[in-house]
Amino acid sequence: MYGMVNKALEGMVVDQFGEEAWERIKAEAGADIDVFISNQGYPDAITYNLVAAASTVLNRPATELLEAFGVHWVVKTAREGYGELMEANGRTLREFLLNLPNFHARVSLIFPHLQPPRFVCTDVTDQSLRLHYYSHRAGLTPLVQGLLRGLGQMFSTPIHIEQEAERAAGAEHDIFRVSWERAAAA
Ligand code: HEM
Repeated sequence: MYGMVNKALEGMVVDQFGEEAWERIKAEAGADIDVFISNQGYPDAITYNLVAAASTVLNRPATELLEAFGVHWVVKTAREGYGELMEANGRTLREFLLNLPNFHARVSLIFPHLQPPRFVCTDVTDQSLRLHYYSHRAGLTPLVQGLLRGLGQMFSTPIHIEQEAERAAGAEHDIFRVSWERAAAA
């Protein structure tokens, strides 16, 4: 994955647990890398090892950390570094989710070697839809949950996520039933 993912993970850990925790996590993961370069590719194993090491060092389930990382990704990384891209993808949570299937195609213009996830929306109503998530990577379902929660925060829109099918439990792909309330007045 591009280095920006590992950098963002570092940002989340440093924000929430401090600089020293990140140094311990890198040591535990055997990641002998001082600084991750955003637009350079790194083996996925580095990212997975960092998450596993964070779980050991911080004594928290990896699923919880991945979810927190998803929130951080939207609320901090994406908004601070790619604000225009995020804003162009929709003015409401509903619009953003409907455009999500095309989102990484635009990200690929910046990161040409991106191996993005695939999203499909079905059963769309005014206040809900089914989000289908496909990936050639395993174990990132909690990340998607966190990303969705982050989007709810970004649009000040209370969001409800129910997982209807789970790849880790044998389903062909993950399916989330996502519903939301009306956005809070700005
Ligand atoms: C400006 C915002 C965003 C940028 C720049 C971005 C970029 C990236 C990058 C660089 C990766 C790693 C893949 C690789 O390096 O090959 C990635 C993966 C991923 N992105 Fe995004 N992304 C953004 C927003 C989002 C949003 C809003 C969602 C969903 C709600 C999302 C869902 C994911 C998921 C689930 C993965 C994990 C890869 C997988 O499942 O195979 N991203 N993205």
